[in-house]
Amino acid sequence: CGIVGYIGKRDVAPLLLEGLQRLEYRGYDSAGIALHTGGKTGGLKTAKAKGRVRELESRLPKRFAGTVGIAHTRWATHGAPNDLNAHPHQDATGKVAIVHNGIIDNATALRAKLVADNVEFISDTDSEVLAHLIGRSTAETLEERVREALRLIEGTYGIAVLHADFPDRIVAARNGSPVVLGIGEKEMFVSSDVAALVSHTRQVVTLDDGEMATVKADDYRTYTTEGSRTSASPTTVEWEAESYDMGGHDTYMHKEICEQPDAVDRVLRGRIDDRFSTVHLGGLNLDAREARGVRRVKILGCGSAYHTGLIGAQLIEELARIPADAEPASEFRYRNAVVDPDTLYIAVSQSGETYDTLAAVQELKRKGARVLGVVNVVGSAIARETDGGVYVHAGPEVCVVSTKCFTNTAVAFALLALHLGRIRDLSVADGKRIIAGLRKLPEQIAEVLSGEEEIKKLAALYADAKSMMFIGRVRGYPVAREASLKLKEVSYVHAEAYPASELKHGPLALIEPEVPTVAVLPDDDLLEKNRATLEEIKARSGRILAVAHQEQEKADHTILVPRNEVELDPILMGIPLQLLAYHSALALGRDIDKPRNLAKSVTVE
Ligand code: G6P
Repeated sequence: CGIVGYIGKRDVAPLLLEGLQRLEYRGYDSAGIALHTGGKTGGLKTAKAKGRVRELESRLPKRFAGTVGIAHTRWATHGAPNDLNAHPHQDATGKVAIVHNGIIDNATALRAKLVADNVEFISDTDSEVLAHLIGRSTAETLEERVREALRLIEGTYGIAVLHADFPDRIVAARNGSPVVLGIGEKEMFVSSDVAALVSHTRQVVTLDDGEMATVKADDYRTYTTEGSRTSASPTTVEWEAESYDMGGHDTYMHKEICEQPDAVDRVLRGRIDDRFSTVHLGGLNLDAREARGVRRVKILGCGSAYHTGLIGAQLIEELARIPADAEPASEFRYRNAVVDPDTLYIAVSQSGETYDTLAAVQELKRKGARVLGVVNVVGSAIARETDGGVYVHAGPEVCVVSTKCFTNTAVAFALLALHLGRIRDLSVADGKRIIAGLRKLPEQIAEVLSGEEEIKKLAALYADAKSMMFIGRVRGYPVAREASLKLKEVSYVHAEAYPASELKHGPLALIEPEVPTVAVLPDDDLLEKNRATLEEIKARSGRILAVAHQEQEKADHTILVPRNEVELDPILMGIPLQLLAYHSALALGRDIDKPRNLAKSVTVE
């Protein structure tokens, strides 16, 4: 979900709509705005609509003006996406309006109490409880009223509150769901994401958990939920406003796929040390002695981040010879895993906000583990909670499905694996070889991207599939997993990923002409084994699309990818499959940047 608020001199509704457009990638089930109509006699007005921000825009009342307001775009958790469940939510008097990200765990109990007290609820959301609690407080200041309400709730929140009787301020609070203040010239912004602010100001203050803020047009102050002042000085957002634009592409997904040569160049920049055939990772915070003491590596992430973790684990095993594996953070956090002091834990996340990953980090830290982050968003919650790590410098990723960040994260893992390898037993020669391979990546990615027209034709041929099977052995397998996820997410075509070696143990039963197979076939020591699997598929009349370094006789079509070093080949082999997912979705007329039911960052459990 996304929050944006403004207080200043400008007409607030258009500003909030623009902010919501920028946040739409975080949720797009419904949207709404509340504004103060101004002056002492003024009050609050709201507008809400199910669906996209443009739907809301077309439904704004004629007279809907003010210079202070809050807005929200929603990804439904509690209650169906409809007009009533859209934020902002109000109390019974209509004087309070709130927008809320997160989940109130004790909402049911609080709601029952309020209902017993004759409070009428108009939505099914947990958030509405908060509006009523603030509305019922009789404390003098708005800050105190919000504080009283927050004391009663359990759960996570990022909120912004507007009150008819306090037109000079917005009160915001954070606990587990991000809130940033944007500091302008005689105007201020509140948001859940810098994306909504960067076209107005790059000076931001990020609230910590347990922190609140009062934002006025020309002033702001921050304090704890207990009321003691905190010092929060603004920092400058490193990403330029333009990097959030579509830049001439029809979709963010296409833009982000095409940006990969530059993005990979950025993750490598300034990090390679030719003298010692290694890399420098300034923020790692793990000295050589500690690194040598690591007996095991465990990588945690969700969705595509988990899949890059699978690639990362292989790279660490191959280059640093440390046993490594990856697991969905969402599973790990619930299974009371044995936390081992000699294991290095690594949390992977584009946004740095995914709640399941953050919760896994917090649980690990509670049990004394060493946790590093491989994160894209600088200063995000996971970046701050971890002991150190590697930023992947992919730049802002707006399309809900991950492409450039996936690739950059895999490259970041290659850097980490090389670093760990070179202080353990990776040879100078191998270090040199991997560095040369890394340096070739941007150009080779550009070469793969230049084959887009061909891939587009192939996507058209396979877009009618009932279901798609993705297979790979060892190095090819994580690539197959990610490609299968990408296709599902963006085209809604059912897809499965299997280790090629496992096909004959069950899923072969699914193979028929309507269920084509995408086979990831790097030219490594397993190529012959993979070819045997292709034979098995052909014998069952299955169609095969191969991604390989050389033409595959058994395949109906082969997408050729340039050779790099075997360890790095998976990074390149994923790229054409991003284009395959993209063009399949395009051929099927899908909403590419905003697939149904999904959101870019899932900040709830
Ligand atoms: C959501 C997105 C996925 C993403 C995952 C992890 O489910 O839809 O595309 O891979 O979150 O996000 P993160 O920001 O932690 O990488």
